[in-house]
Amino acid sequence: MTVAGQDQLADELCAAGQLPPPWAPAFRAVDRAGFLPDRVWVEEEGAGYQPLDRAAEPQRWWQAAYSNQVVVTQFDDGDTVWPKVGRRPTCSASMPSAILGMLDVLDTQPGHRVLEIGTGTGYNAALLAQYLGDDQVSTIELDPALYELARANLAAAGYRPSVLCGDGAAGDPSSAPFDRVLATATVRLGELPHAWVAQTAPGGRIVVPVRTEITSGPVVAFTVQPEGTATGRAAPLSVGFMELRAQRSPLGDLSGLRWDDPDADTHATELTPWTVFNGLDQRWVVGRRLRGCRWWHWPPTREHPHVLWLLDPTSRSWASATYSTDPGPYTVRQGGPRRLWNEAEAAYHWWQHAGQPSVEAWEFLITPDRQHDRLTAQTASPQPETDDGMT
Ligand SMILES: C[S@@+](CC[C@H](N)C(=O)[O-])C[C@H]1O[C@@H](n2cnc3c(N)ncnc32)[C@H](O)[C@@H]1O
Repeated sequence: MTVAGQDQLADELCAAGQLPPPWAPAFRAVDRAGFLPDRVWVEEEGAGYQPLDRAAEPQRWWQAAYSNQVVVTQFDDGDTVWPKVGRRPTCSASMPSAILGMLDVLDTQPGHRVLEIGTGTGYNAALLAQYLGDDQVSTIELDPALYELARANLAAAGYRPSVLCGDGAAGDPSSAPFDRVLATATVRLGELPHAWVAQTAPGGRIVVPVRTEITSGPVVAFTVQPEGTATGRAAPLSVGFMELRAQRSPLGDLSGLRWDDPDADTHATELTPWTVFNGLDQRWVVGRRLRGCRWWHWPPTREHPHVLWLLDPTSRSWASATYSTDPGPYTVRQGGPRRLWNEAEAAYHWWQHAGQPSVEAWEFLITPDRQHDRLTAQTASPQPETDDGMT
């Protein structure tokens, strides 16, 4: 039996080419609304996340449940209580098209055993259980309150996969080996928990969103080889997920900094600052180089032109690059021990010199001792060194 709203969402995604045919029956069968709490937060254009209560605004709530949008169910590990809006979303029902894209890349077949990291609401685990059967699916959630909710949601919808409460970084050794591992929280580049490789059968696949602090990066599909090794390529998917909890990086804030600091180290650049970030392909290369660093864009006001900020919250290094529609040069100001703009510009020039490779040109390699990434497209120039020695 299907629900009208869920069917309508399925039709919309199908028309947009975002419903992989093998997943259509499961997607139509599992009612997303059954996995959402009554009080959630949804993003409104220009207004950021806004609280939404099912009792007070039923129509908006149902609309959010059956639309291709993220519905946040927790901020700041539950420390920020609805209707307050917190700083860091820590659980959500992910965007349906992103989930479906990842399930498509996972390429799971009947009979496969699948481990999901990050149960969240339980919705994705229900899709997997509907597709493969309860006995084939294990899912792990770190947060005890979310774990309880997910179990209740799954049971109410009639699904009984194995749901564990614990750190997904350790995998589920008691149910290994798996044919597929799917992470619905992002891992930091170079820090994929090796237990996932060890618990996947040779030939099996791990699908995981990878990030740097500058940017949510690609979803990487790894193929596991014998002896604890795996090789991955970026899938053509753009998703933004929450970080694996132990791998969270400081968000950083700009308090105490002035974009026009008269004491800053100041120089002019011919490079339009925005071009450095204007696309995932170059942002990925810049983020790879500027480990630990965050960025913000301030649109122009009466007080300032466009300002592009870089900040390393750990060393309190910062850079502000100002620009407008006028031709350059543009002013860059920097402070703290790192010269972040120089690092960003060097990475950008390297990317240009290398032929502007797309994020899909990167290959990710894992052994029990080391994780690194490399460009597979032909390039004459040596690849940039990163802080953690990755090449
Ligand atoms: C984007 S949500 C997952 C969405 C979920 N799959 C769904 O269908 O609703 C990310 C989840 O990962 C969980 N998480 C973060 N770090 C984790 C870890 N180390 N182990 C297990 N779960 C983790 C978060 O608590 C959060 O619930």
